[in-house]
Amino acid sequence: MLNIIDNIGKTVIFDTSRTIQLANYNREPDMSSKDLRSGNSFIDDNHKDLLDNIDFIASSVRDSWDQRAFESDVRCFIVDLENHFSHEEVILKAAGFSDLDIHSMKHRELSLQLRMDSYYMQGLEDSIRFLGSLRTKIFSHEMFEDQNYWPLFENEYPAEELLIPWSAELATGDPETDKHHRALVNHINRLHLQFRISSDRHYAYRELRHLYEYSKFHFSEEEHSLDNKLRPGHRANHEFLLIDLSRVIDEVRSGKFQLVNIGDYLKYWLINHIQTFDIPSFLQND
Ligand SMILES: [Fe+2]
Ligand SMILES: [Fe+2]
Ligand SMILES: [Fe+2]
Repeated sequence: MLNIIDNIGKTVIFDTSRTIQLANYNREPDMSSKDLRSGNSFIDDNHKDLLDNIDFIASSVRDSWDQRAFESDVRCFIVDLENHFSHEEVILKAAGFSDLDIHSMKHRELSLQLRMDSYYMQGLEDSIRFLGSLRTKIFSHEMFEDQNYWPLFENEYPAEELLIPWSAELATGDPETDKHHRALVNHINRLHLQFRISSDRHYAYRELRHLYEYSKFHFSEEEHSLDNKLRPGHRANHEFLLIDLSRVIDEVRSGKFQLVNIGDYLKYWLINHIQTFDIPSFLQND
């Protein structure tokens, strides 16, 4: 933990270990937060612009190294990022996001951490390292933290077209777990609708990798929260689900599966686990 005074004089507490943990999730080299979609086009455009901006800074570094120009680009980037956070918070407030305070704190932590990291950059190698970690931190925030609010914008699709409508039967009663499960359900519903009209296997592969990473994150958070109350086989089932999903992803890439059928696999992949392991585990905790 680290206490720091932010630029408006407030003390902010950093949970550095968690930020590092989030940033360290492995990902495929071709995964990009440009593919992540919240369902709100303004937010999604902002996210894409931020990533384009990092690409632009990276190409300037590659083409002609200039410490001063780089520092100035990074300062502008952080200001753009903070403006984006502020726009996102306005939208989330209007949409009634219940975890807005926690989410805003995460934004503040992230921008302060980037400001701190940027103070210690000296020379080309540091700058390249900084850009790599900047990209990972933004990706991790959008993948694991922003995804919690995606269900707010899910009404872009008519309820009768949803593969898995959220219902009380899926609730574990644990607010954090239910938030993750809703995000997973929302993610699968979208993939199902997209794969009905798309036959682009490379796109499907990238989308499914995002689902894989978010699921891995969720399983690890759930294991952490249940701790010694995890039922026998629960952790092993998480591992099995990831292995099985990974096989399906490879088979999608090799063309073995029709994309139109993937939603039906994912529905049972998730729902069976929630009903067999998650709900009984949280019930026994009450
Ligand atoms: Fe955010
Ligand atoms: Fe679970
Ligand atoms: Fe779960």
